[in-house]
Amino acid sequence: MTISRETVVGAYRLILGREPESEDVILQYMKLGSAEQLREEFLQSEEFLAKAAGRLFDAPQFKSRYKQALTGTLQGSALNDPDYPYVGIEEVPGTDDFFELFDSVFAPRLMGTKNREPGFRRMFEALRDLGLQRPLILESGCLRVPGNWAGDGQSTFLLDAYARLEGADFFSVDNNPESVDSARRACSDRTQLILNDSVAAFITIASICQGRRVDLLYLDSFDLDPDDPAPSAAHHAREFEAIRPLVKSGTIICVDDFRVGDMVGGKGALIEARMREMNAHVLHDGYQKVWQVR
Ligand SMILES: C[S@@+](CC[C@H](N)C(=O)[O-])C[C@H]1O[C@@H](n2cnc3c(N)ncnc32)[C@H](O)[C@@H]1O
Repeated sequence: MTISRETVVGAYRLILGREPESEDVILQYMKLGSAEQLREEFLQSEEFLAKAAGRLFDAPQFKSRYKQALTGTLQGSALNDPDYPYVGIEEVPGTDDFFELFDSVFAPRLMGTKNREPGFRRMFEALRDLGLQRPLILESGCLRVPGNWAGDGQSTFLLDAYARLEGADFFSVDNNPESVDSARRACSDRTQLILNDSVAAFITIASICQGRRVDLLYLDSFDLDPDDPAPSAAHHAREFEAIRPLVKSGTIICVDDFRVGDMVGGKGALIEARMREMNAHVLHDGYQKVWQVR
């Protein structure tokens, strides 16, 4: 049995919404055994699926069903433990001592071109030396690319390990859901992640934590453009001013991407001036800059 010319042309118009490209293709489709086979061919075609997918994803009904399907309660799968393999650490260390972990696992991974090892080490030692049971740690810009030790630094994973093993309240803020998603998967439930603009979140944290001190402030959000560093430096300065009410004597402040190639200041160019005004003590000056308020 063959299919009539009209049926093929009708299928083009009804299913693909256009005229056939040539008489040859009409003849090819006419050779199919049945109209059902013809319909299946059209419904499975790249052209139809691409159009249908576009329509489906744009439909409000789809968006609502999709969110519903993905946001059911995660029964029994609450996050608890850090995911070491996710950040490229296959051998899960058997120690509960943060500084032992830092020496054996984290330090070798931080010693790339950017060499954040000394900055992180100084920052964590200073935090420990504050001698607090539950210091408050705030971060802007969370772990976005898992395993990117040499590039971004995996600061959120390090801070999570500190909070878990030494004890701390740790909040990290990022305005990109993809970054928050990576950090959520990498870190333990000791870490509180906030999906929002860092300045807005810091203003609220400063207001609800009135009377407390931020013990460690790690700033690494708005990416630095070496050809135009001002927007990034300005954003980090705004973050600092937003959390300023919690910056007190003893607060440790670390800004990433400070000395980048020949550039000095980077993300911290404006914060450095504030630190000078406040006569803060410089703990480290390298790829990262670390200060402690006197
Ligand atoms: C360099 S990455 C952070 C890397 C991370 N600290 C690490 O060591 O792996 C910068 C992050 O800042 C976030 N970001 C950029 N602008 C922001 C803003 N205004 N508020 C909050 N986060 C922001 C980006 O989404 C990105 O995830």
